[in-house]
Amino acid sequence: MCRLDFTLERELPLHVSAIEQLHRDAFGPGRFARTAFRVREKVDPVPSLSYVATSHGYLAGSVRLSPIKIGSCQALLLGPLAVHPDFKNKGAGKLLMERAVKEAKTLDYCAILLVGDFDYYAKFGFQVVPMGQITMPGPVDPQRLLILPLDEDKASACKGHVTA
Ligand SMILES: CC(C)(COP(=O)(O)OP(=O)(O)OC[C@H]1O[C@@H](n2cnc3c(N)ncnc32)[C@H](O)[C@@H]1OP(=O)(O)O)[C@@H](O)C(=O)NCCC(=O)NCCS
Repeated sequence: MCRLDFTLERELPLHVSAIEQLHRDAFGPGRFARTAFRVREKVDPVPSLSYVATSHGYLAGSVRLSPIKIGSCQALLLGPLAVHPDFKNKGAGKLLMERAVKEAKTLDYCAILLVGDFDYYAKFGFQVVPMGQITMPGPVDPQRLLILPLDEDKASACKGHVTA
């Protein structure tokens, strides 16, 4: 893999239209029907946990985390994480994930939940949610429902239904 140097910065209003285009390209029109998107459309992402990676002024990737509740537990829903096709497999996704997780650990949330490929997210510490422990308000492949505990004590109480 040819790694590139990326600049990481907090998402600003000036990035929003390029991020929307990135989501269109990465996920297509079907994205609005996905369960995770439908949860996210009800809440704003946490500004201090929303990052972009740029390369020579071009938007290479973006990650956002949104506040959710899992039962009574305050948690975060990660996503979308998206990297522009021109910059794939060059380390932008990893950089965005590492920064978002690092910053999330400084805040008072019990866990980060996401829907995605275990093979990609396992390297950041995500595990498959035990079957039936957490339910989403729509269909999700249980093998793709992943969680990263941020606070081991509180995360053990992270069970139940996800709400925005
Ligand atoms: C998945 C995605 C975010 C990865 O970001 P990236 O910057 O391209 O990837 P990175 O440089 O961080 O990591 C590259 C490594 O991850 C692997 N990888 C990439 N996508 C993967 C996937 N979906 N599943 C498993 N491994 C994956 C690559 O093979 C590579 O492995 P290597 O280090 O052993 O060579 C990016 O490909 C993307 O935007 N995909 C489309 C949107 C999407 O699926 N988003 C995630 C769901 S929210």
